Amino acid sequence: ADLRALNTLHLPARAARLQPVEDAADLPALTAAVADRGEPLLVLGGGSNIVFAGDFAGTVLHMRTRGIELLAQDGDTVQVAVAAGELWHDWVASALERGWYGLENLALIPGTVGAAPVQNIGAYGIELVDRLQAVEAWDLEARQWLRLSAAECEMGYRDSVFKRRLAGRAVITRVIFRLSTVPDPRAQYADLQRELAARGITAPTPRDVFDAVCAIRRAKLPDPAQIGNAGSFFRNPVLDAADAARLLAAHPDAPHYPAAGGAVKFAAAWFIDRCGWKGVRRGDAGVHERQALVLVNHGQATAAELLALARDIQADVRARYGVAIEPEPVIVGG
Ligand code: EPU
Repeated sequence: ADLRALNTLHLPARAARLQPVEDAADLPALTAAVADRGEPLLVLGGGSNIVFAGDFAGTVLHMRTRGIELLAQDGDTVQVAVAAGELWHDWVASALERGWYGLENLALIPGTVGAAPVQNIGAYGIELVDRLQAVEAWDLEARQWLRLSAAECEMGYRDSVFKRRLAGRAVITRVIFRLSTVPDPRAQYADLQRELAARGITAPTPRDVFDAVCAIRRAKLPDPAQIGNAGSFFRNPVLDAADAARLLAAHPDAPHYPAAGGAVKFAAAWFIDRCGWKGVRRGDAGVHERQALVLVNHGQATAAELLALARDIQADVRARYGVAIEPEPVIVGG
């Protein structure tokens, strides 16, 4: 099966088998059959955070389950279960429409709902974990259903238990959100404040935040339908207090934000930009001209070309700033 249309970097790759999943109840039988054949298994949602570095010699489970279910309402709080295959942005728009607030800042993130917990998606001041109640999954090893509370998901910055202890082991089937029926817009993120101010909005509604986030993303980030990309290709580096102080002494203008435990998060895009990589193109592999953190496939780039470009960027940032930046998407095969 051809995977090119199933990954937003539009990389050419093939899987031995492609298995669509329309009903989560089919997972125990489907995944047991894959295990019995001794084949590797890969779970794919929207393919927006994955680099196919080669062909996949196993079965790709393509999650296509649908459904939004209001589980409970307690005062101003609703608990809503959403199927893994729902498109993230459509769910965010639909929640806003229904008067369930809290996801506005996460508008227009590509991918599916089931993929969101894996890297704890976040943007414009909000992370998934801020709105998460629980995650349901099928455990491929223990062959049983799991329900993990938000705490059990061990969410960090672009990180979760699904990238560590449960990597390759859990098929996420539903995400349970905790949202509010009372608007509580969060507009502290600098870019967002600027966009709202430019629109003359001083007391934003959730709809205003949603619209502003969509406008910022459309202006800065390439639409995968038009130009292949996987969002930010690198994680923002998090340095401990001592390393951060040293870096800031040498480069006081480096954008940075407080992180957990006294650590400091730096903007990888700024280092890459300062090293002169923004807009650079090598064949069809390139760095986006409006966001240095985003690598793009202008058409026929291969994974090898993109990964070589990524390595050169990493080496350059390390040489000039002493900072290690790491790829954010999952790299498969090759
Ligand atoms: N900057 C540059 N050059 C650039 C782009 C940005 O110098 O080409 C500087 C900006 O001036 C700004 C800073 O870098 O001070 C941060 O830029 P931005 O607000 O665009 O955010 P980011 O840190 O580059 C992160 C997320 C994005 C998310 C935005 C907004 C990661 C890896 N990326 O990017 O998430 O949309 O913040 O919250 O954390 C993604 O993960 O795929 C993604 C797009």
